Amino acid sequence: MYNPLSSSIVCYSPRISVIGAGRVGSTLAQRIAEKNLADVVLLDIVQGMPQGLALDLMEARGIEMHNRQIIGTNDYADTTGSEIVVITAGFPRKPGMSRDDLLKTNAKIVVDAAKQAITHSPDAIFIVVTNPLDVMTYLAWQATQLPRDRIMGMAGVLDSARFETFIAMELGVLPGDVKTMVLGSHGDLMVPLPRFATVNGIPLTELLDTDTIQRLVERTRHGGAEIVELMHTGGAFFAPASATCMMVESILLNQSRLLPVTVSLQGEYGLENVAIGIPCRLGCGGIESVLELNLSDEERAALYRSAESVQNNIERAQEILKEHPNF
Ligand code: LAC
Repeated sequence: MYNPLSSSIVCYSPRISVIGAGRVGSTLAQRIAEKNLADVVLLDIVQGMPQGLALDLMEARGIEMHNRQIIGTNDYADTTGSEIVVITAGFPRKPGMSRDDLLKTNAKIVVDAAKQAITHSPDAIFIVVTNPLDVMTYLAWQATQLPRDRIMGMAGVLDSARFETFIAMELGVLPGDVKTMVLGSHGDLMVPLPRFATVNGIPLTELLDTDTIQRLVERTRHGGAEIVELMHTGGAFFAPASATCMMVESILLNQSRLLPVTVSLQGEYGLENVAIGIPCRLGCGGIESVLELNLSDEERAALYRSAESVQNNIERAQEILKEHPNF
């Protein structure tokens, strides 16, 4: 057909694949496209669902003023050549369930997704979002055998964002002015670090008393469950998608942000054979460096408790996956 504007020039556009088109995955696809970061491939096993979501997002492009492609698919071949693969596939928890209760159902889903995705995008950087997050990150790392710098989990950014929100609400300040680091596992044993929290450079400990800080720490620890209880079906997805998008952006734009990221530890903090959240510098190579903070005895003990619970669940999951061909 005649097109007066036709051209043979093909421009390069980065591609990010989001595996799992549930609420986290589809909201992440929206954020990536509307921030004009990359084209997005949204993949799900449910026939028609990712295609419908992609078409819906494509139809908003004129209003949102971007020109990113969003492709919905059930076929991993469409993810070929992705710079970043984000795995959100798996079941969310129901009220009363802990993230660890999802271990059995989600382990196989995540391992299969990681193996299929890496076949088509061997150079990609992987971000795992499925719960129980730390265990899933470790299993995906083992299944893909990627260098640990290129496979990480999203949780610390979300948990820190929650802590920052609760601090900002308490003080009546802009959430963006509050900076915190929540380390450890993405569960009740996560390790918020009030000693390192600031409001535009002012230590939190100068602004709030110990009891108030402890109350906000506890609310952060149960931040995900609070939303599951309120919603009854499914859990949070806006903030998880925003947190994942922040990591995607730091990698894609080589921003070298220092963020709490779940990574397989290789002796840092005296830990190995486990993945938990620690501060990492995220850039175009993935995890460019990890930071070992000088923790107090109490903080270190909390990190060890967190790591121990993840290690136990990794062993449970490895047992479940023993006969699995992709593992
Ligand atoms: C939460 C889920 C994403 O914390 O783990 O809301």
